[in-house]
Amino acid sequence: MDRIIILDFGSQTTQLIARRIRELGVFCEIFPGESVISQELLENTRGIIMSGSPFSVYEPGAPEPHSSVYSTGLPVLGICYGLQRMTVANNGKVNASITKEYGRAAVSILYKSELFHDVPDGFISWMSHGDSLDVLGDGFELVAASETHPAAAINKNLNFYGLQFHPEVSHCDFGTEILSNFVFRICKSNKSWNMNIFMDHISKEIKIKVGDSKVLLLISGGVDSSVVAGILLKVLPPENIYLMYIDTGLMRKNETAEIEIYLKSLGAKNIQIVDASNTFLDKLKDISDPEKKRKIIGDLFIQIQEKELPEGLSDNYFLAQGTLYTDLIESGKGVGGKAKVIKSHHNVRSPMVEAKRNAGFIIEPLEKLFKDEVRRLGITLGIDSRIISRHPFPGPGLAVRIIGDITPEKVSILQEADSLFIDELKKRDIYNEIWQAFCVLLPVKSVGVTGDAREYGYVLALRAIKSVDGMTADVFPFKTSDLLEISSLLTNKISEIGRVVYDVSSKPPATIEWE
Ligand code: XMP
Repeated sequence: MDRIIILDFGSQTTQLIARRIRELGVFCEIFPGESVISQELLENTRGIIMSGSPFSVYEPGAPEPHSSVYSTGLPVLGICYGLQRMTVANNGKVNASITKEYGRAAVSILYKSELFHDVPDGFISWMSHGDSLDVLGDGFELVAASETHPAAAINKNLNFYGLQFHPEVSHCDFGTEILSNFVFRICKSNKSWNMNIFMDHISKEIKIKVGDSKVLLLISGGVDSSVVAGILLKVLPPENIYLMYIDTGLMRKNETAEIEIYLKSLGAKNIQIVDASNTFLDKLKDISDPEKKRKIIGDLFIQIQEKELPEGLSDNYFLAQGTLYTDLIESGKGVGGKAKVIKSHHNVRSPMVEAKRNAGFIIEPLEKLFKDEVRRLGITLGIDSRIISRHPFPGPGLAVRIIGDITPEKVSILQEADSLFIDELKKRDIYNEIWQAFCVLLPVKSVGVTGDAREYGYVLALRAIKSVDGMTADVFPFKTSDLLEISSLLTNKISEIGRVVYDVSSKPPATIEWE
């Protein structure tokens, strides 16, 4: 399978480059920017991209590509910082420019080059740089420029290509064409990335690795572990697969029952549903601090997983996990260079997982996939679209949506409200336009009038956002009539709720969840 590799110097848009290339039908992987380009890395690699960076090339501590990147003979495309690095490495100069360039900028094409095949002169690019090329690298030719700065330079003999702008962002007109020119015209990659090919590939890998051994998969109810279950049940004998689901009592309404039906529909033979709701609710009693809630839930998950290991599992079983490519990037596990730990997924860090990982008894079939690819894979596998299109749900469940202390009464009010809200979004045909929607129960009661009486009821906040990956989010622009109707439905049907508010904060500055 042909691939393009990206050397990541910490740019916000590195993942976006990888996605764009995969959307073109070519596999693309991200590696730390300073990686030595070994024989192993060169295997199946048709071209290399050097990403942008928050650093400036002469800044102390700025990441530098290893010199081996320049001697592979493969085409190398530098984007922004990548171009500047390439320039400096070839005796050119980069300087902090007086006129910075941010946002849309028209680009004139000075010479025809393969990189700009079918791209019109004067197209609008997307720039984001303070530094600029002052002197081009040896043998480089300026092939495009904006009104104020060099925009593209190429050294045809060495097979080096550089863009000052970001073709990967959607605001860059013809960005996809430029990337496609690099991938196909310059690197001569074959289209060999789609979910059918991936499934063939992963099936072989799993069969070889697991053989006749047994596999344990912890099911969370989310898309990722559901798709992993689908893959395993397709590839391995169902009697060797053990599925374990822990009901924390903090799940969405009817979630546990729905999961069981779904797993049975896939042909699962060994399903273990552990009802631990009382244990979770007991331990969470009177706890208001969100971080304490998360810790209690994370620790309990681990204890219960280890205590309730299904009978019939031999010692040498494999553990399957729904880890995604983005999880690995975010936790810095060997992908990308300047990774930040953003979310700690309790099931990724447990001692059992670590022990299995160290012993090589772990399988993570989704570890190369982005979320949207997992959804496409699920569709390829014929998994029920209701499971595939479910909004993300946090590991700690409703615990982080009940602000303050948690009681069984509050859990059931929130489950009811959440289910009504989500049903309404589906009825109004807007569920799939929204990336994530949910209700939050606030620890305040406000006054209302019902008939002649004044009554105090809970305040419920609605949240609905649009996002690509949860890292940033915009508020979903409801029609006012939808909001008003949903609000009155909630207060009419759930007597404990006295007031409904809509959260109109984007991320940043607010996070998606309230705790
Ligand atoms: P935030 O609130 O950080 O959420 O903007 C971004 C995405 O992550 C989910 N989320 C979590 N997922 N454990 C999880 O597994 C957590 O503790 C957690 N907190 C937030 C959130 O639902 C959103 O999709």
